[in-house]
Amino acid sequence: MKRTKTPPPRPDAPLLEFDGLHITLPVKGEHRTVIHRVDLTVPAGSAVGLVGESGSGKSLTARSVLRLLPPGARVGGEVRFEGVSVTAMDPAALRTLRSREVAMIFQDPRAHINPLRTIGDFLTEGLITTRGERRGAAEARATDLLREVGIADAPRRLRQRPAELSGGLLQRVMIAAALITEPRLLLADEPTTALDVTTQAEVMAVIDEARDRRGLAMLFITHDLALAAAVCDSIAVMYAGSVVEQVPASRLHDGSRHPYTRALLASRPDPGAGAQPLRAIGGRPLSAFEAGPGCAFAPRCPAAQDLCTAQRPLPEPTGDGAEDGHGASPGDGHGHGHGRTAACHFPRPVTDGAPGTDRRVRRG
Ligand SMILES: Nc1ncnc2c1ncn2[C@@H]1O[C@H](COP(=O)(O)OP(=O)(O)OP(=O)(O)O)[C@@H](O)[C@H]1O
Ligand code: SF4
Ligand SMILES: [Mg+2]
Repeated sequence: MKRTKTPPPRPDAPLLEFDGLHITLPVKGEHRTVIHRVDLTVPAGSAVGLVGESGSGKSLTARSVLRLLPPGARVGGEVRFEGVSVTAMDPAALRTLRSREVAMIFQDPRAHINPLRTIGDFLTEGLITTRGERRGAAEARATDLLREVGIADAPRRLRQRPAELSGGLLQRVMIAAALITEPRLLLADEPTTALDVTTQAEVMAVIDEARDRRGLAMLFITHDLALAAAVCDSIAVMYAGSVVEQVPASRLHDGSRHPYTRALLASRPDPGAGAQPLRAIGGRPLSAFEAGPGCAFAPRCPAAQDLCTAQRPLPEPTGDGAEDGHGASPGDGHGHGHGRTAACHFPRPVTDGAPGTDRRVRRG
């Protein structure tokens, strides 16, 4: 692809937009679709939860923001950061995006940190090599950040190596590393999945407070719909490489219409309802590779009809606008982007009562 000099950002554009993102990967000599025409907006300062079962395409969608895709990937559509196409960025603009504007944290911090180097080196290296900061100033900043993410005895921790820290502490270090360049967008790919429940809650609180302090936007990837609803402003549900529903987090329980979202909600225990069996979603999730011409959820969907296997449903507005205050648009170009859409030929009525209550715990 011919790359011309990257144009300047447009401050009036949404912070992050996926505009028909389509990714194919080479598999056994042919290109297969793994991400199918994803439209999604992350407004400045807001948190969008990307939720779905394993293999639904969450990580590839997030990694496309930094152009960190597997070798041979072909990308269609556009990913834009402040109106500038990431897909067409020149190398200098891409370096700036990766080192200053967008930070990423992952499920397994140990896989992303050199075990032989100290925590201090890990935290300060970017500031020293890409920003030319002096070591003393970079270490002072690293110390402040370790304290901010709740690590006591920060000067001692800076001299330690990763093996000397627990998983929870190391994930806090990763959060500090993500914050050190003062990015505007955090891509958090299952940052708490590997942690026990108590540590998970603590780490989520650290992320939430850091975001609040900085007005930091976040694309939060998880398979846990309730956790996403607790920390995000809006939810995008992925299935087999497509976003099948978008809904504000505050309307997840009473406003989601897609049978897959309703099934995910119904498969969660309701803490207010006492002992009860979990309703698992029957069948197994399809990857985008296996999806036919119709709706990929059809083999598991209790509401499927003939049309569903014949024709792929497109995202349609489902919102009532006035109630959620954002209208039905998935992104209006002015930074709201918390609209409501569902890709389903026969969306569920809003009153069919999946269990659960609004469990938003923060960001009130
Ligand atoms: N390097 C690769 N080569 C071939 N296929 C891949 C590669 N990376 C991902 N895929 C396929 O692309 C699809 C989406 O993968 P992705 O990692 O985005 O899923 P995910 O939703 O993040 O899943 P998980 O919850 O397990 O992390 C899957 O079917 C996966 O097998
Ligand atoms: S399009 Fe049909 S199969 Fe797909 S989710 Fe809707 S009702 Fe179910
Ligand atoms: Mg993943």
